[in-house]
Amino acid sequence: MLTKVHTGLDAVPGIWWKPAHKSEKIWVAIAFAWCIVLFAMMPLWHWKGGQNPSGIRRHVDPKAYFARTMAFATQYKVGEDRGLPIVQPPPGADVYLVAMTYQWYPILRLEQGKEYMLHMSALDVNHGFSLYPLNINFSVVPGYDYALRVTPTAAGDFRIICNEFCGIGHHTMVGRVIVVDSAGSTVADNDSATIRSKEGQ
Ligand code: CUA
Repeated sequence: MLTKVHTGLDAVPGIWWKPAHKSEKIWVAIAFAWCIVLFAMMPLWHWKGGQNPSGIRRHVDPKAYFARTMAFATQYKVGEDRGLPIVQPPPGADVYLVAMTYQWYPILRLEQGKEYMLHMSALDVNHGFSLYPLNINFSVVPGYDYALRVTPTAAGDFRIICNEFCGIGHHTMVGRVIVVDSAGSTVADNDSATIRSKEGQ
């Protein structure tokens, strides 16, 4: 008598051809309904939640964008910090920020409650714009001018951290945005002292 040998030719025992149990059908229906809810939430978050800002993207020559930013910085320069110009454009103006290895240029000084058109682009490689300590993140890509309507809602001295690895100096790529309140004063000194003391630890 031959011994039964198991090979791949034998059908795997199973019950898949039997009708699904009622509870399984209910579960599939619930999962599908939830998928549709989440799908609807994507556009809803965009319009109602204010989490996904609609920027305007344009192709731009990285060198031309850099030249535009330099001209902007020269035009509205009001001071300097460690070799970087502090630039204060008038409310409503187009504001230019360029990311390059390994700095954000220039330092921006904006007024609280005023609207600006903020342009961001990179000169060399991909960088990541992350406004510290707020949770605002964008990819900054060479060849693309990403323009956003922004209205600073709080005065302070903010840092821009690069959150996309861009090279050996990535961790040193820290920029600065100063927001002054309507009285023209800023809590910048207190805040920057706090941040500097943290950096020094
Ligand atoms: Cu720039 Cu990382």
